[in-house]
Amino acid sequence: MTSIEKTKAFVFQTYVRQGKAFVSGQGTCLTDEDGTVYTDFLAGISVCNLGHCHPSVTRAIAHQAQTLVHVSNLFYTAPQADLAAMLVDKSFADRVFFANSGAEANEAAIKLARRYFQSKGHTNRYKIITMEQSFHGRTMATLSATGQDKIKQGFYPLLEGFIHVPFNDIDALKAVLDETVCAVMMEPIQGEGGVIPVDPSYLSQVRSLCDETGTLLIFDEIQTGMGRCGTLFAHEGYNIFPDIMTLAKALANGIPIGAMLATKEAATGFDFGSHGSTFGGTPLATAAALEVVKIISDKAFLDEVVEKGAYFRGKLLALKEKYPRIIDVRGKGLLVGMEIDQDAGSFVADCFKKGFIINGIQDKVLRFAPPLIVEKNEIDRLVAVLDSLFQAGL
Ligand SMILES: Cc1ncc(COP(=O)(O)O)c(C=O)c1O
Repeated sequence: MTSIEKTKAFVFQTYVRQGKAFVSGQGTCLTDEDGTVYTDFLAGISVCNLGHCHPSVTRAIAHQAQTLVHVSNLFYTAPQADLAAMLVDKSFADRVFFANSGAEANEAAIKLARRYFQSKGHTNRYKIITMEQSFHGRTMATLSATGQDKIKQGFYPLLEGFIHVPFNDIDALKAVLDETVCAVMMEPIQGEGGVIPVDPSYLSQVRSLCDETGTLLIFDEIQTGMGRCGTLFAHEGYNIFPDIMTLAKALANGIPIGAMLATKEAATGFDFGSHGSTFGGTPLATAAALEVVKIISDKAFLDEVVEKGAYFRGKLLALKEKYPRIIDVRGKGLLVGMEIDQDAGSFVADCFKKGFIINGIQDKVLRFAPPLIVEKNEIDRLVAVLDSLFQAGL
């Protein structure tokens, strides 16, 4: 049996997959079982932000794998301590809780927000406002937080206490933000929702509303963080800071990790025994993440992401001028969406046949999230393929 046949036979059929199995990756390139090389404009959905098998991250993983892979959180380890200190140094936050995935980081944020108020005796302050079209994960609490009905089907009843409001609509938020709300939770740019950027004035009004009402503001930066939008964390580009932030995906460039960061005040919601995870902050994952944060937080690296993102969007906007079937081009840094007037799935498959990995979301949006090390000539080659596909009327 081939890998594809085995997967079809033995793995839950929950994912729609392209019909190839990959065997290796290097930089922006992935190679399949037949030796065909693809240029990756998805990076494992914004995970391999430094490209596949980045040499110094691989070195850090190999070194740590030979030194110490796991001890429980009943003990201390240097990689976990160093990563927490570095994340605090480079962010608004004072404390970090480590988890293993985005959903788990968000679970921690949701639990912290509730417990912050409940530990102060405000037991009625438990509701969390999130945005329509948002995506926060697939566990029961994060699914409840998510603002997309289609992925909730069959899982009811969900967790109570979540209110969904339209994104970028301050009046809708004001209408429901009362004394029973403990937190507002949002992505600075909705990724799975269709690459929809926040309106900067909305974001600043949300911050002010939270300040006025003492409500915690949670930014889910699982997709937008780690340099993806041209700053280490996307919110820095708006100069608006949360009380709690979640990270995962690219934090360790492919080794599973999640992190929930909070201000000193918000962090008081968790005390001894209030939350935990067996694998959270394992030496292997945190050693990899330490190397990733060092590289991505470099200003010159981030400036290049800004420049390449502008270059890429400029090229796509030029295509939009040429083809009315392109409805919109949007995004920030190297998180880019292109809305088209047709099913994105067939377009993605056509790109794949031509050696490029992209992704389709919300039916008609093409999402591009290449490794941040992508070269301009690779952008040019992808744009030429897109041009040829539109030209051919596909
Ligand atoms: C914004 C956002 N939050 C949360 C998640 C869930 O992360 P994970 O799949 O690691 O649980 C994702 C995954 O796509 C995401 O994009």
